[in-house]
Amino acid sequence: MSRLITQLNIGLIGGGTVGGGVYHALQRNGGLISSRLGVKLCVSQVAVRNLSKPRPVDIPQALLTTDWRAVVENPETHIVCELMGGLTTAKAVVTAALKLGKPVVTANKALLSAYGEELFELAKQRGGNLYYEASVAGGIPIIKVLREALIGNRITRLYGIVNGTCNYILTRMKLEGADFGAVLADAQQLGFAEAEPSLDVDGHDAAQKIGILASLAHGFWVPPERIHTEGIREVTPLDIQFAAQLGYTIKLIAMVKKFEAGKSSKSSRIQVSITPTLVPNSHVLANVNHVFNAILVRGDVVGDTLYYGRGAGQDATASSVLSDIADAALDLRCHTDQRVRAFVPHERDGKVMDIDDTVSRYYLRLSVIDKPGTLARIAALLGQSKIGISSVIQPEGHEGESVPLILMIHDASFSAMRKALTKIARLSVIKGAPVLFRVENFE
Ligand code: NAP
Ligand code: HSE
Repeated sequence: MSRLITQLNIGLIGGGTVGGGVYHALQRNGGLISSRLGVKLCVSQVAVRNLSKPRPVDIPQALLTTDWRAVVENPETHIVCELMGGLTTAKAVVTAALKLGKPVVTANKALLSAYGEELFELAKQRGGNLYYEASVAGGIPIIKVLREALIGNRITRLYGIVNGTCNYILTRMKLEGADFGAVLADAQQLGFAEAEPSLDVDGHDAAQKIGILASLAHGFWVPPERIHTEGIREVTPLDIQFAAQLGYTIKLIAMVKKFEAGKSSKSSRIQVSITPTLVPNSHVLANVNHVFNAILVRGDVVGDTLYYGRGAGQDATASSVLSDIADAALDLRCHTDQRVRAFVPHERDGKVMDIDDTVSRYYLRLSVIDKPGTLARIAALLGQSKIGISSVIQPEGHEGESVPLILMIHDASFSAMRKALTKIARLSVIKGAPVLFRVENFE
């Protein structure tokens, strides 16, 4: 009979926002978790970069080390948590631990986006496991939902607000008329913006997360370069105002839409994109504010389900790391290598659609010279591309060389829209680059 494990040691690689949060949460709720799992969890070492750095969470000096390798290789470390972020060293940490057959927990979406397929394969070969609940949507247990709770469903739609920083910026721009740069600085101060802000505001962080969810939901690895990615830099207070007049809220929406195989192909296709999107005010996602994230998942059996919670920050993220640690502990305690497999490829010939082939309604903002015939020339170019206009606003009260002109566009392919815009941008009455956002009705 195998020996009963009574205590498991956790090596934290990283004692910053998330690592500090995990340490603190285990201090607070370690006893509770132990009684639920039947095994005691103990943080045995914490690797950091700088031993003398002041830390908001008080981690005993005796636990700190700068030698991550020693933590990973220590035979007394049973579970390794990579909470340092970045790519190169983080990959070395995860690889070293998996090669030793140890379970690894990571919050690092950038690492998974770049190397997930390779790391999951390594975990499988070495009989370890790689857990990643905290890599997407902070405290929302969306990985568990897709991997376990909805295992009996084909996922036909997945819509998410998965970047807390962008949602925080867009919310404060809408509710307070706040300035983009000042709100971004606040988000950095609060600990949920990435050190490199373009990862958030240009959509890359959200693209990494939606790539992980799309891969998990559809059973084939979605390469990051196939994800159409737009950020929120082009969203101005004017757009937020016009969208509101039209009954919409602008959100950075991650989408995964499944389309059945056509006559010419056996494999199903998915759209994977991250774009600023006009969401009808009556839709629940329009009312997800500040750092909160939400993900709507539509399964062919269950219908629509919705998951809401804090998408970033110390405690929310720590909660997801704890859930993974508990799963790893159960694996070790029950001597089952991979009770819950990290990622199981099962649709190897699935394809990500070219964004040009996707169809949407659009919000188009142009800066135009206000003179007779302008609208007719624009409408003619759209008409030539068989693109229909559903409504037009030319707000009064704007003075100067150019004025804004807003057009709501009926369903059109992105390719047709792009081509028409290239022609429109060349018109002498157009000043500045056209701004185009998607409009989604969540059907
Ligand atoms: P952070 O506050 O910058 O913490 C990083 C930690 O790693 C620090 O303790 C740092 O040491 C340590 N570290 C860096 N390089 C190291 C090295 N070579 N050896 C040993 N330790 C090293 O970052 P974070 O916000 O906690 O993020 C950690 C991970 O969680 C990232 O992958 C991030 O994307 C992910 N995540 C973060 C959030 C969030 O809200 N912050 C949410 C979800 C996921 P020092 O303390 O000495 O500098
Ligand atoms: N920068 C990320 C966000 C942190 O704002 O959502 C959580 O992954």
